[in-house]
Amino acid sequence: MTTLDEKKVRTIAIASGKGGVGKTNITASLAMALRKLDKKVMIFDADLGLSNIDVVLNLATKYNIDHLFKGEKKLKDLIVEGPNGVKVLPASSGIQELTTLDEFQRLRLIEEFEAYDDNMDYLLIDTSSGISENVAFFCMAAQEIVIITSAEPTALTDAYALIKVLFTKYQEKNFKVLVNNVKDKKEAIEVYNRLSTAAEKFLSISLDYIGFVPHDNVVPKSVCQQRAFLDAYPESSAARSLTEITKKLDNDNTQNVKGSLQFFLGGLLNSKC
Ligand SMILES: Nc1ncnc2c1ncn2[C@@H]1O[C@H](COP(=O)(O)OP(=O)(O)OP(=O)(O)O)[C@@H](O)[C@H]1O
Ligand SMILES: [Mg+2]
Repeated sequence: MTTLDEKKVRTIAIASGKGGVGKTNITASLAMALRKLDKKVMIFDADLGLSNIDVVLNLATKYNIDHLFKGEKKLKDLIVEGPNGVKVLPASSGIQELTTLDEFQRLRLIEEFEAYDDNMDYLLIDTSSGISENVAFFCMAAQEIVIITSAEPTALTDAYALIKVLFTKYQEKNFKVLVNNVKDKKEAIEVYNRLSTAAEKFLSISLDYIGFVPHDNVVPKSVCQQRAFLDAYPESSAARSLTEITKKLDNDNTQNVKGSLQFFLGGLLNSKC
């Protein structure tokens, strides 16, 4: 049995504020890109009441997080193996109660992660839209937060609102920004500049630009095929951009100091969200 201290894992929350900007598709393809780098990856579908990742990756899930909270199943019973060996912890669909986790459910989650004896390199947390307590909870528990925004003013406003809440309520200052669904790098930088200017001016925090994924028809096409775009269309411009971002993320070792599962569990426990 591995001890918690040995469980080095980078936990990354993918969040956006606004819905439908590409969190789930980016998470699924980021996982595929990390697998190509030979990393062990688990996706945690933290859109607990309205899960999606199982649909996007065409996974047959027998149990979901609700079975865990009811004490009927263990974490290891829930986890399904997706394409290319990506592990997925599925959420549930249509269970309203799960949109806000209570103290008991949080503790159960922590207990289960503690007992889960598997070495992972990355735990990717696909959060739900909005700025609910659950979203804040998972963002604060993770070591890194990737904010996804598109060029739409509403996406930018909601991304800023999420950053503002995490900063003002929980003093979070570190955010990575991935601009999705834009024409080109120029547009991506313009979008990033708008967001980071607001964050600097009103919150005095600087955001870290990690790259962009262009608008690409292979994304909706792969959704219909229930495959990650990086897997189904590895030569597409969306896949090539995300591969670059993934390499950069993986090379960024600055997070290693707090890179343990224990940190994530501590974050879950201490989060006051
Ligand atoms: N780069 C892109 N190019 C083209 N279409 C895209 C791109 N990214 C996302 N989309 C489209 O946006 C839709 C929504 O994406 P996705 O489900 O990943 O968003 P989400 O942020 O997870 O949504 P939710 O908040 O509802 O969970 C996809 O079905 C896809 O068709
Ligand atoms: Mg989603």
